[in-house]
Amino acid sequence: MEIIDCVDEMQRRALELRAAGKSIAFVPTMGYLHRGHLSLVERGRAEADVLVLSIFVNPTQFGPNEDFDSYPRDLQRDFALAQAAGVDMVFTPTADSMYSAEAATTVHVARLSENLCGASRPGHFDGVTTVVCKLFNIVQPHKAYFGMKDFQQLSVIRRMVADLNMPVEVVGLPIVREDDGLAMSSRNTYLSAELRQQGLALVDAIRLVGAAARAGERDAATLVAMARRRIEQEADAEIDYIQICNDATLSDVDTVDEQAVILLAVRFGATRLIDNNYVLNEL
Ligand code: PAJ
Repeated sequence: MEIIDCVDEMQRRALELRAAGKSIAFVPTMGYLHRGHLSLVERGRAEADVLVLSIFVNPTQFGPNEDFDSYPRDLQRDFALAQAAGVDMVFTPTADSMYSAEAATTVHVARLSENLCGASRPGHFDGVTTVVCKLFNIVQPHKAYFGMKDFQQLSVIRRMVADLNMPVEVVGLPIVREDDGLAMSSRNTYLSAELRQQGLALVDAIRLVGAAARAGERDAATLVAMARRRIEQEADAEIDYIQICNDATLSDVDTVDEQAVILLAVRFGATRLIDNNYVLNEL
């Protein structure tokens, strides 16, 4: 496994591979790898000649009061997991090499990036789309893999790729969960046992809403209220949002159909958890 920490070197290697006729699969991450990330690696590994994994805790997608400094980092552990998963190249740039002091360009995806997490984390998606655009230019992937855990992020990136004619096929893959249902996240390590238990309310709320919808309750406001009541039973839960949205537009729907997705963001103490599911799909 090659480890590359230099932007120019990564781009040179990627262009060489392309010139040699190799296909490149790319999994961008912020590291502290778990089975969710590795599910993306596994798929990418099977679909291209070379699998590139990036690990970069991107400062520009964190707000001033967010967890950039405390975000979990363990590169040695990540390298071991990446190697075992069959990663060919790990790209770990420094922040200085990614962003020059003169940098003046950002990628902004209007509308899709402005509600849900975009409303509670202003500037977050500009940070994401800008860094993903840069990573695509550096890594030159034919295919890039993203998790549905970050449903809005996936939608925003698909929009960017389509709007800017990027020659990358974006592949979205299902949420990988712990045995008890909690969606895997690098941020789960912040949770005490007590808060982790409370966090399961997200899964419970999704299941309650799904069961009610499948039993015939299709009014989105009624279903959201049901989810809200379940989350509010937890002592430390502070709801950021609970919304039922159309999967393509991410705007709220009145009535649940096959395209309806429930999206939740809830803070438990200092840790903000997100989760989502197609309302009518069993979880
Ligand atoms: P990060 O949170 O490290 O996630 C990297 C990728 O792993 C994302 O596509 C995310 O959706 C996916 N992922 C995370 N948890 C998952 C789970 N439980 N099941 C399936 N996939 C999961 O998302 C980012 O990093 C950053 O915003 C990034 C795209 C790298 C840009 O900085």
